[in-house]
Amino acid sequence: MSTPPPQNTGFPHRHLLGIEGLSSTEITLLLDLSDAYVEINRSADKKRNHLSGRTLINLFFETSTRTRTSFELAAKRLGADVINISVSDSAIKKGETLLDTAMTLNAMHADVLVVRHPFSGGVTLLSQKVNCAVINAGDGSHEHPTQALLDAVTIRRRKGRLEGLRVAICGDVAHSRVARSNIHLLNTMGASVRVVGPPTLVPGQIGRLGVEVFHDMRKGIKDCDIVMMLRLQSERMHGAFVPSIREYFHFWGLDYAKLAEAKPDALIMHPGPMNRGVEIDSEVADDMGRSLIREQVEMGVAVRMACLEILTRIRTNGAPVPGPVT
Ligand code: NCD
Repeated sequence: MSTPPPQNTGFPHRHLLGIEGLSSTEITLLLDLSDAYVEINRSADKKRNHLSGRTLINLFFETSTRTRTSFELAAKRLGADVINISVSDSAIKKGETLLDTAMTLNAMHADVLVVRHPFSGGVTLLSQKVNCAVINAGDGSHEHPTQALLDAVTIRRRKGRLEGLRVAICGDVAHSRVARSNIHLLNTMGASVRVVGPPTLVPGQIGRLGVEVFHDMRKGIKDCDIVMMLRLQSERMHGAFVPSIREYFHFWGLDYAKLAEAKPDALIMHPGPMNRGVEIDSEVADDMGRSLIREQVEMGVAVRMACLEILTRIRTNGAPVPGPVT
C-alpha cells in the first residue's frame, strides 16, 4: 500500500529507511534539529511532549545496547510510551513471520516502529505493510541511518562542517551497514570518503558509491581529518576473512603508529561495540583528546529525538493519517 508522504515538515518521507536518497537539505534539517536536542539533553529539564500520547515499539531481531536504549530514552524524553520486543521473548521464536509480527504490532496502533533485522531489505519490506512510521535501526549489511546521522552531528560539532573533510572508513566494510550509511551521507554532504581494508573485507564494487579504495592502512588514512573504525563483524562471516586476530590488528588495527599518518588534529570514531585490541588499540580508543567515541553515544539520543519528532510531526500538524493496510 502506498501512502502519501508528509507535507510541510521539510522532510517528505513517512519512514527513515536509509540515508540513500535523502537530499543534503533533508540531512541538514535532521542535523540542525539534533543539535538543538543536544542542548536540551545537557540541561536539567530534558522532557518534552512532542510524542505525548504516541506509542513507539522497538522491534529488535538482533542484539543491541546503544541503539535500542537510545531510541527508548529519546522516545521517553519526548513523552511517548515505549515497548521493547526482542526476538528471544516474542512469537517469532514460535515461527511467526516478520510480516505477521509487524501486522500484529500495527493492529495495536503503534505510531513508530523501530526495527533491527539481520536481513538487508527486511525493514523496507516491513514498512510497506504497516501504516505507522518505520525507522531502520540496522538491516543486515545494508543501512543504519541514525548511526550515520549521529556520526555526522558528532563530526560537525567538532570540525564545524562536513564539506571538504577527508574521512577514512576502515576495517570490515563488507559487513557494515554503518559504512554504507556513512558513505551516502558524507558524499551527499560534500566530504571526500576513503574506504580502507583488506580485499576480503572491502566489496569489489564499493568504488561505485563514489569512494576511493585503499588496501594499505597507512596510505588510506594519510592526511585524513577523521578515522572511522569498524568492528570486525564475525557474526556475519561464513568462512575465514582474516588470517588471525593478531595479524588483523597488526595490519588493520588503529594504533598511534598508524594514526601518525593522519592529520595531526585527526579525530577517531567507532560506532561500538568495540573489540579492543582487534580493530583499535585500547589507548587510542580512550584518548580523550582524539577519540569521539563517547560523544557519538551522547549524540545518538539527540539524533533519535530529532528523527522521532520529524516523523511524527505530520500527525500533529493535522495532515491525513494513512488508511488501513490492505
Ligand atoms: C553497529 C551496528 O549494529 O551496525 N552498532 C551500533 O548500532 N552502534 C555496528 C556494529 O555492530 O559493529
